[in-house]
Amino acid sequence: MAARRGVPIGALGKVVVLGAGNIGGSLAQRLAESDLAREVVLVDIIDGLPQGKALDIQESAPILGFSTRVSGTTSVDAVAGADVVVETAGLARKPGMSRSDLLEKNAAIVQGHAEAVRAHAPNAICVVVTNPVDVMTYYFRERSGLPTAHVFGESGTLDTARFRTFVAEALHVAPKDVTGFVLGTHGDTMVPLLSLTSVSGVPLTSLLPAERLAALVERTKQGGGEIVNLLKTGSAFYAPTASQAELVRAIANDEHRLLPASAYLDGAFGEKDVYVGVPVVLGRQGVERVVEVELTPAEKGAFRSSVEAVRADLALLAKLPR
Ligand code: LAC
Repeated sequence: MAARRGVPIGALGKVVVLGAGNIGGSLAQRLAESDLAREVVLVDIIDGLPQGKALDIQESAPILGFSTRVSGTTSVDAVAGADVVVETAGLARKPGMSRSDLLEKNAAIVQGHAEAVRAHAPNAICVVVTNPVDVMTYYFRERSGLPTAHVFGESGTLDTARFRTFVAEALHVAPKDVTGFVLGTHGDTMVPLLSLTSVSGVPLTSLLPAERLAALVERTKQGGGEIVNLLKTGSAFYAPTASQAELVRAIANDEHRLLPASAYLDGAFGEKDVYVGVPVVLGRQGVERVVEVELTPAEKGAFRSSVEAVRADLALLAKLPR
């Protein structure tokens, strides 16, 4: 295998990105440019959109030097033979909406896609991005019938990136040197863990006073909404797709990354039969394990409330006509 910038070209055969909106298009671009797969396929129901975006990305290959082939189609059967499927399809929030407001419409979309994966790509590792993401990941897993380790959701990597950005800004340090975890649901009850946030190992709590930290936590919780309110016509996609590409890279290169993601809990953190953001180890087989970390009593309480918020949405999901 040839290598470019240290990345083995085509570590994956085929990655299928479901949905060619702002997220799908930007993700396909990031994946193609990092040569993680021999083939990236964009799928959308709007004829012309996936084909047009794919061709546009493909035409950047001579300049950027990537070898990945990029194509677009309206047929969800294109998931056949995929190593990785990223579910991005669905409506995005508008100002004033919560992620849960998208539940009913997005569940209908996710259902069809998960059933196509069940039929044509039973060996794929699936990353779900569609909101409300913890609930949609649960639903995708259920309808696809895939092992729980092979289906997980993107949430914590994005929320943590926002938190790390705000911390870096406050401290005037390089964003990449800030590490930390945001756990719980990808929603207002997410739980940024101050006890696990540091700047190159220096505990954050020793670097900023409590009230500044509280403000950063609050801004992180509203991070997605802050972008929605600025854009007015949709939600964020640059930071989300950077985070999704990081997850796909962890799979492609079997990196065993320890990252926050929405994973299935079967007893870890005292929870069962729910998908929610927790630290996991990610590699070629998907979620290798959930990493239980010690939470303070306050963090434990906040995490439990966050899980309850997901369960409330799962109860709504259970009432939908199938
Ligand atoms: C966000 C959306 C994509 O947090 O959930 O930006």
